[in-house]
Amino acid sequence: MEKVVIVTGAAGVLGGAVARAFGKVGDKVLVADINPPPLQDLVALLNQGPGQAISCQVDIRDYDQVNGMVQQAIAKWKRLDVIACIAGQGLGRLSREKKEKLVIEHTDDDWDLVMETNLKGTFHCIKAVAEPFMAQRDGHIIIMGSGTGSRGRVRASSYATTKAGLYGLMKSAALELGEHNIKVNVVNPGRVMHAGDVLDQRIVQENTLKRISEPSEVGDFYVHLSRMKQVSGQIFNLDSRIIF
Ligand SMILES: NC(=O)c1ccc[n+]([C@@H]2O[C@H](COP(=O)([O-])OP(=O)(O)OC[C@H]3O[C@@H](n4cnc5c(N)ncnc54)[C@H](O)[C@@H]3O)[C@@H](O)[C@H]2O)c1
Repeated sequence: MEKVVIVTGAAGVLGGAVARAFGKVGDKVLVADINPPPLQDLVALLNQGPGQAISCQVDIRDYDQVNGMVQQAIAKWKRLDVIACIAGQGLGRLSREKKEKLVIEHTDDDWDLVMETNLKGTFHCIKAVAEPFMAQRDGHIIIMGSGTGSRGRVRASSYATTKAGLYGLMKSAALELGEHNIKVNVVNPGRVMHAGDVLDQRIVQENTLKRISEPSEVGDFYVHLSRMKQVSGQIFNLDSRIIF
């Protein structure tokens, strides 16, 4: 049966891929992002079928906006089955200077920006869907993590902190919401390229399969996990690194 899905961060590389994967199997998808222009093409593509789509501008740092996004999906399709919490990033993409920084170079504002987006934003998403999911005694919350949350990375202290924090948030929410049949999991996608990125050969070598992750494969995994009935509280690594 087709599902009603929200994808945050849908203007980005992974959010777009996840939205397309749900659309491909006929799901109804609300695509959301703080940066709405790229969502227009995505909505047009998804509305070619077999799925359907609408878009929503949202800043996940603001609970009222997140709740409005959830209500928009429910008003349109009368239910909600899945939220894919993908919006977020590190200082290199989130900050105005687009610069990653050493821990000693971070200002309080830098730190707060990454915490508010990745951690508080995901908390807002969980909180906003909990009530409708409890009412229908079903739902999937699938959070985008990162292996950097386990391994750490130079110039990514704030980012790594949030991604490690998401593991605790996910496990606690899974424990609390399990009795309502709500599934909560984290997916670590592995390294995925952005336009203009230079491939770091060290990452290729760290992967036992000597290749990096494909956004479409990450999207297909989200769809698969959203159909599972007995899996919650788990962290899935979608690459072939075995170093954490
Ligand atoms: N690309 C990778 O190699 C990689 C690896 C591990 C984890 N991840 C995670 O995957 C997710 C998506 O990454 P991506 O590579 O597609 O990045 P991206 O920059 O292409 O997409 C991130 C999206 O989030 C949106 N966003 C940022 N702040 C927001 C806010 N406050 N409210 C709503 N939307 C907001 C951005 O506008 C952007 O469209 C992130 O959580 C990232 O940490 C990516």
